[in-house]
Amino acid sequence: MIIDILTLFPEMFAGPFSSSILKRAQERGLIKINLVDIRDYSTNKHRTVDDTPYGGGAGMVICPGPLFGAVEHITALRGCKPRRVVLMCPQGRPLGHELAAELAGEEHLVLICGHYEGVDERVRERLVTDEVSIGDYVLTGGELPAMVVVDVIARLVPGVLGEAASAEEESFSDGLLEYPHYTRPREYRGMVVPDVLLSGHHERIRLWRRRQSLLRTLASRPEMMEQAVLNNEDKEIIKKVIKDLQNLELS
Ligand code: ADE
Repeated sequence: MIIDILTLFPEMFAGPFSSSILKRAQERGLIKINLVDIRDYSTNKHRTVDDTPYGGGAGMVICPGPLFGAVEHITALRGCKPRRVVLMCPQGRPLGHELAAELAGEEHLVLICGHYEGVDERVRERLVTDEVSIGDYVLTGGELPAMVVVDVIARLVPGVLGEAASAEEESFSDGLLEYPHYTRPREYRGMVVPDVLLSGHHERIRLWRRRQSLLRTLASRPEMMEQAVLNNEDKEIIKKVIKDLQNLELS
């Protein structure tokens, strides 16, 4: 998968993209990340890319010229018009597992990192196919959101995670929170690992983990339950939890 990132601050990406899983995924050729400096497509000798808004008001707006220039450069480089040109902005579609999976299915993505007050509307009209937000807050620019998008997409590209980890990923895509994890030592500062995890009994461990996932989701993110993919076993677990709670109230 090829991801072209249009940014005013390419140097910001050095750390996150040159370590850990993203580094390995690039080395193995599973994802190719190309950073494009929007300033290289400035149409003036001072290399400026922004200007004051027509109609007045605070802040600066990124001009259309450099962004159209950068996307045309990418079109020439890749030999075809990009199918998805994603503008990172707080007004966009909220990033969740579903959108991440949809973007991960593309062979080529262009991410535009907005800045200042935003980009000229004609860029959104003519160049941009998708707008994506990573949450209901305003960041100083689209670089951190673009890194988040690349990270979440990369995990979903076949081969990026090991086989065991991608199976886990599949289980998370059922819309539940993760169960608790423990490793050595068995006892730490008086806190002990639940016995079931040491039992070697795979079926009991699976059930315990599923119950924990359900409990955690119910307690911390009850709204996720509406979208969660639940089977009959899950429904039985929930029924039992409710019954146990009712008994607790009565006693
Ligand atoms: N740019 C600034 N804030 C943002 C957000 N929350 N999501 C995506 N892009 C942004």
